[in-house]
Parts: sequence; C-alpha cells; structure tokens
Amino acid sequence: MAAPEIKYTQLFINNEYVNSVSGKTFPTINATNGQKICDVQEGDKADVDKAVVAAREAMKVGSTWRRMDASQRGRLMNKFADLVERDLEYLARLETLDNGKPLNSSRAGDVPVVSKTMRYFAGWADKVCGKTIPVDGDNFCYTRREPVGVCGAIIPWNFPLGMFAWKVAPALCCGNAIILKPAEQTPLTAIYLGSLFKEAGFPPGVVNIIPGYGPTAGAAIAEHMDIDKVAFTGSTEVGKLIQQASGKSNLKRVTLELGGKSPLIVLADSDIDVAVNWAHQALFYNMGQVCTAGSRTFVQEEMYDEFVKKATDIAKKRVVGNPFDASTESGPQVDKEQFDKILEMIESGKKEGAKLECGGGRKGDQGYFIQPTVFSNVTDDMRIAREEIFGPVQQIIKFKDVEEVVERANRTLYGLAAAVFTNDINKAIMVSNRLQAGTVWVNQYHNVDVASPFGGYKMSGSGRELGEEGLHEYSEIKTVMIKIPEKTC
Ligand code: NAI
Ligand code: MG
Repeated sequence: MAAPEIKYTQLFINNEYVNSVSGKTFPTINATNGQKICDVQEGDKADVDKAVVAAREAMKVGSTWRRMDASQRGRLMNKFADLVERDLEYLARLETLDNGKPLNSSRAGDVPVVSKTMRYFAGWADKVCGKTIPVDGDNFCYTRREPVGVCGAIIPWNFPLGMFAWKVAPALCCGNAIILKPAEQTPLTAIYLGSLFKEAGFPPGVVNIIPGYGPTAGAAIAEHMDIDKVAFTGSTEVGKLIQQASGKSNLKRVTLELGGKSPLIVLADSDIDVAVNWAHQALFYNMGQVCTAGSRTFVQEEMYDEFVKKATDIAKKRVVGNPFDASTESGPQVDKEQFDKILEMIESGKKEGAKLECGGGRKGDQGYFIQPTVFSNVTDDMRIAREEIFGPVQQIIKFKDVEEVVERANRTLYGLAAAVFTNDINKAIMVSNRLQAGTVWVNQYHNVDVASPFGGYKMSGSGRELGEEGLHEYSEIKTVMIKIPEKTC
C-alpha cells in the first residue's frame, strides 16, 4: 500500500533546506517492522544558532515580517492552510509511514487539525487588540500586544502535525518568528511543512525547522540566550528540564503541556453503552499515546461487572494491524522504547494483582504492536493506576459514591483532563467543578476544539494552548502612558 515518496530530509533554515553543520544524520524508523525509512539531517547547537540568526533577522525593526500588515499575516496563514489541504493525502501518508498511526486517523484528524488551527489563528491576526485604560491623572494610557520575539518549540511524536500547528499558528498570528524541533521519532511531516511556508510566501527566517535529538538540539533551544520563549509538549520529566534551562539562561517564557493520568468517572445512572464506548476511545485512540488518555476508568460498583464485560468485549474486537489498511483501528506503538515501557507496565499490573481481562502482550512477531489490554480489579496504589503508560492498557477501578471518587480522582500529581458520565445534570456540574483538571468532558471524551483553551493543572503543565488564552501566550503586553498637557494650544 502506497508509502509516499520522501521529498525532504534536511533542516529548514531561512527558507532553505540545508545539511546540518556537523553533517551527521539519524535514521527515522518504520514502527510496523523496525526498519529504517530514511536518514534525516541531525541538527544540534550550531544549527540552532544559525536558525536564531535567521529568525532575529526576520524580527528586525523594519523587516518585511515586522512591517507586514496583520491582515496580510492572516492571509499568508490561510494560504498555508490551503496548501496543507491540497497536500492532504500526501501528508496523511507521510505521517502514517513515520508514526504508524492509521491512515484513516491521519486523513480525518491529524492533517485537518493543521489547516483548522492555522485558519482559526489566521482569523485572529488582525484582532489582537490592546485596551485604553482610565488611569488616574491627566494621562492617556493604552496597551499594545507585541510579538514575544523568537519562539522555540519542542514537540513530541504522538501528534506530530497537530503539535506543530498548535505552536506555529499562534506564534505567526502574533508576528513572532519560530524555531521548531520535531521529535526524533517523527521528523518527516514537520520537515515537509517547511516547503509549504516558503510556497505560501512567508519571508525567510520566520519559520525554521531543526530535526534532531532532545538533549542536543532540544536543549540548545531551551538554553539559548537569544530565544525569548519556549513551548514544549512531552514528558513531565523533560518539562522540568525545560523550565530549569530557562531559569539558568535568560528566563525565557515557558509554556508546558505535559503528562497525565486522567480520570474518567462513570456514575451508575449513566447509559452504560455510551460510557463503555467513550471509555474505550478515551484510552485506545492513537494506540493510547495521548496526553489526555482516560487511563483511570472509575466505575460505580452497581455497574462495575457489566461494564468490565462490555469494555473487554470491544477491546477484544479492536482491529490492530497495518496502519495503511482501511479496516485498521490501531497501528504499532511509535518505537521500541515505548513498546518496552508499556510491556513492562503490563507485567507490573499482573504482578501487583490486577485481573487481566484481555490482551497482555505483544501482537505478532515484528514491529511494535501491542494487544489491546484491559485490567479490572485495579486499585489506586498500583503502578498502572499511578504512572502514565502511554499505551493500549485500560485500568478499570471500582468506587462507591461520588464524594469518594472525586477525592480519589484528584489524588494524583497530574491534572490534564477528566470526564464524568451521568444523566444527572446536578451531578455533572458538581463533579466537573470539583475535578482538578484543565479540561473536563461530560458524556464524551477527547473533544479538543481549537477555539477553547487547553492545558494542565498541577504537574500536567503551565500556560494554555489554543483559544484566546493560548494566543496571548505569544505576545507581550506593553503599557504606553502619555502625559496630556494641562494647557492646550
Ligand atoms: P520526551 O519528553 O523525552 O520527548 C518530547 C520532546 O522533547 C522530543 O522532541 C524530544 O526530543 C525532546 N527532548 C527530550 N529530552 C530533551 C531535553 N533534555 N531538552 C530538550 N528537549 C528534549 O518524551 P519521550 O521520551 O518521547 O516519551 C517519554 C514519555 O513521555 C512517554 O512514555 C509518555 O509517557 C510521555 N509523553 C507525553 C506526551 C504528551 O503529549 N504530553 C508526548 C510524548 C511523550
Ligand atoms: Mg525522552
């Protein structure tokens, strides 16, 4: 089934594809068979430095980008979105090849997220307003929202296209320049998108893409004295390093979107089939590789046994296989490291006494496929109930009453998302209000819309992406105070 031609494998700096300064390359791997897809130029500190020079030049007072009308920035972003739509099928295939996610998902989800996010923020470009403020005295006080400057972005491999757009779109909307490092597992779509920025007419240096590893290229961005902001999505462990690097360098602005162990609470008054289906999607979508994955499924005791049976039945039916096949619902995990981590977590669940209802091991004998796995009789202290697994492993936990489950749901270091299933509106509102999470879904899951803010409480991150709140992470507010003379002429 048609794997796409690989058109670009170099760094994208100053609107040109170039080799890395070191000349080193790294392989990107096909997760369905462990074979190399191609070698990609490996960026490091010297390349980040080059990109910073280009981005600074693009941000100079009087440059084409700085002088461009805000409405024109919006038009360029819409033009870019048109090109993404033109290349939808190509980008979808490239993403499926590099990441392993089903082609249907790439087509219907990942690629459209890019154009949709670009268009949403394109619409904002000429609507980023300041205020006039009635300060004391004879003064005229107003605020302006100015670009932060050169923004760094470090993104993960689970949604390479979506995470790219979530960082780049608001940055461009506010008139910043950006240097983005894709994850080493999935560099190909980000590299390709560079060519579309050039084709859309963005000036050189505005968008720069540096494939490479975290501790080298990623750290160079996080530590750089001449990068003004860094936006990161990935593990909580690396999120801490990013924040520390900012503290040790120039106190660049940091936004973080990190891990989760999100509770999904099913009250006994809910419609069981609705809840079972959403809970399945909440966990198994994207092979469980989702920061918001509903990975603690709390079910009220009256409904528990029936819920476990139904959840196991659909998990057993889930089609795992070649991501290019139309019937495939799950492809492989992204790489060997994730595959090994998930299998180890499954073993810990078995050892700690959870009941394995289905799955529990690898699928097939090549690539990084894992059987959809369901554990019941899970207790809060087990590792599978506390640590992020980031794989197709569902934990079903029993609870008695609402007060108790809210307290248990909140007993975690994370706070990215949560959900409650109930047909009682009072309970829906009460539970939603009490859950410590950046997003709460009621009778649904994974509904993230570009127009509403997204981010985490507690160790799931800081700052917000998307919506008006996400936009404002990409501008500085300046107060201008003008003295009004007492005497007029
Ligand atoms: P990671 O946090 O190491 O990688 C994410 C990005 O950070 C990649 O671009 C990577 O190159 C970069 N990075 C790594 N070390 C860095 C450093 N020292 N300085 C700057 N950048 C650095 O995540 P990884 O290793 O891919 O996955 C580990 C776990 O993290 C997963 O099993 C999962 O639990 C979690 N994770 C969460 C994600 C989310 O969406 N919140 C996405 C990916 C992973
Ligand atoms: Mg890592």
